[in-house]
Amino acid sequence: MENLLSAASHETLPDSFVFPAEQRPPPSSAAVALPVIDLSAPRDEVRRAVLEAGKELGFFQVVNHGVPEQAVRDMEACCEEFFRLPAEDKAAFYSEDTDKPNRLFTSTTYGTGGERYWRDCLRLACGFPVAADAKNAWPDKPDGLREAMERFIAPTRALGMELLRLLCEGVGLRPDYFEGDLSAGDVVVNVNHYPPCPDPARTLGLPPHCDRNLITLLLQGSVAGLQVSYRGDWIRVQPVPGAFVVNFGHQLEIATNGLLKSVEHRAAANAAVPRTSVATFIMPTDDCLVAPAAELAAGGGGAGYRAVTFREFMRVYKTVGARRESVEKAFKI
Ligand code: OGA
Ligand code: NI
Repeated sequence: MENLLSAASHETLPDSFVFPAEQRPPPSSAAVALPVIDLSAPRDEVRRAVLEAGKELGFFQVVNHGVPEQAVRDMEACCEEFFRLPAEDKAAFYSEDTDKPNRLFTSTTYGTGGERYWRDCLRLACGFPVAADAKNAWPDKPDGLREAMERFIAPTRALGMELLRLLCEGVGLRPDYFEGDLSAGDVVVNVNHYPPCPDPARTLGLPPHCDRNLITLLLQGSVAGLQVSYRGDWIRVQPVPGAFVVNFGHQLEIATNGLLKSVEHRAAANAAVPRTSVATFIMPTDDCLVAPAAELAAGGGGAGYRAVTFREFMRVYKTVGARRESVEKAFKI
């Protein structure tokens, strides 16, 4: 618990958070903006925009996405409030046991060289639809957090499934390709909290990583910090109020035989204000065998990835680390 960043204020950056110069955030970065896609536009247009951005960047933002504004606002407010709770209220939830589905921890589980990241994380998980016992395993403070989570998860998951349908239509898979085991695993919500950092130029909130799931829907909040890898540079993603940032996990890359890529991203720390982001991950079931879709492997020169159960993927991912290159080495043919 003494590790929790949000339990104290910080005047200097402890050595364990200082990274080698080449890993630090850059002084400037690419002038490329992430596309903002209006999901209320005609479906043909949306399908094209989603596919184009997905292929070029692996990342885009969506507005008019159908998740009620109130559900987003309540979720963000409860999450921010959680991290403002006195340390003793958070202590019960703190755990370094990575097998625990619901827990509070600091830094990251990505296999790293022992360096620490300027981030606290409240991880919440549930099946879908949300069962009562899943809900009871979430923190009971602040008031309203459990209800906000429950009201947020259903429409956010539905948005993810709708984006998957659009992508399927775009790449030539049947629209319900990702219904079933490929998306029926836990819904995991990572509430990332980056407290003000005394020396943000020498550290990072999250290391460069690709997400391990199928598709990710991220609420950035109003403070910038997310950076997306693009042609050797890092795009700083400008927050758009109420928008979700969408990106693809490794499972979507494998299933689409690399047509849609899981792109590296990271989070910078900042000195001025705390930043809280809410990442929702849709995942396959543990036993689901994830493999390139036959329709997509047939067109190009065969399957580019080996078939792997999601459980086995996660086991290997834990040992090789989060960098794209090492995951590719393990699963690309
Ligand atoms: C994540 C992530 C980025 C952010 O939780 O996987 O990439 O801006 N978060 O917090
Ligand atoms: Ni991520």
